[in-house]
Amino acid sequence: MTTNTAFLWLSAGITAFAGGLAMQGADFGEQAWLLSRASGLAAYALLSASVVLGLLLSTRTAKHVMPARVAGDLHTFLSVLSIVFLGLHGGALLFDGFFHYTLLSLVIPFVSPSNPFWTGLGVIGGWATAVVTASVRVRKQIGYANWRRLHYVSFLAWALSLVHGMTAGTDTALAPVQVLYIGSAALVTGLLMLRLLARPAAKAARAVPAGERGSISRAA
Ligand code: HEM
Repeated sequence: MTTNTAFLWLSAGITAFAGGLAMQGADFGEQAWLLSRASGLAAYALLSASVVLGLLLSTRTAKHVMPARVAGDLHTFLSVLSIVFLGLHGGALLFDGFFHYTLLSLVIPFVSPSNPFWTGLGVIGGWATAVVTASVRVRKQIGYANWRRLHYVSFLAWALSLVHGMTAGTDTALAPVQVLYIGSAALVTGLLMLRLLARPAAKAARAVPAGERGSISRAA
C-alpha cells in the first residue's frame, strides 16, 4: 500500500468515525448545523497546520523538528484531511433544518442562503484548497516551476478560510476559537516574514562565485 493510499484510508476512517459520532441519535436540523461548525473549525485547523508545516519546510526549519521527508508527507496528509473535513463541513449544510442549502450553493460562490458574501469567500477558499492539494498529482505534467507558482495559491486559500470562519461563523467569540484564529494567524504571518527575509540572503549567497565564498567567510 502506498503512503498516499494509507493517508486516504486513514482520512476516510476518521471522517466516518467523526460523522458517526456527530450523527448519533440526531435531531437532524440542529445536529447538522453543529456538525458543520465543528468540521469547519477542524478543516481550518488542519489547513493552518499544513500551511505552517509548508513554511517550516521552505524555510528549512522543519529539519530541526523532524526528518524533511516525514514533514513533507505530513504536509500533504494534513491538506488531504482538511479537504475531507471540508466535505463534512459543506455536506452537513445540505441537512440544515433552518437554511435551505443546495449542492449548487455549496460550489458556486456568493449564492448561499446565509451570509452570501462571507460564505462565498469560504467557497472560493475551498476551491483554492482543492486545486492546490490536487496539483501534487500533476506536478510532473505541469513542471516543477509552474507547480511551485500554483502552490502560492495556498496562502490565498488559507487567508480566505480565516476571514470566512471569522465572519460567517457562530463561534468566533468563543475563547478557544479566538486562540485558534489569532495563534494560527500569528504563526503563518511570522513564518511568512521569515521566509521573505531569508530568501534574498539565500539568493545573494548563491550568486557569489564558489571560489570567493571561502574568502568571504574567512574574512567575516
Ligand atoms: C464549500 C465551501 C464552504 C461553505 C459552503 C461554507 C459554509 C459555512 C457556513 C454557512 C458557516 C457558518 C456556520 C455557522 O453558523 O456557524 C461556515 C463557518 C465556518 N467555516 Fe465554512 N464554508 C465553506 C468553506 C470553508 C473552508 C474552506 C474552511 C476552512 C478550511 C471553512 C471553515 C469554516 C470555519 C472555521 C467556520 C466557523 C465555524 C464556527 O464558528 O463554529 N469553511 N462555513
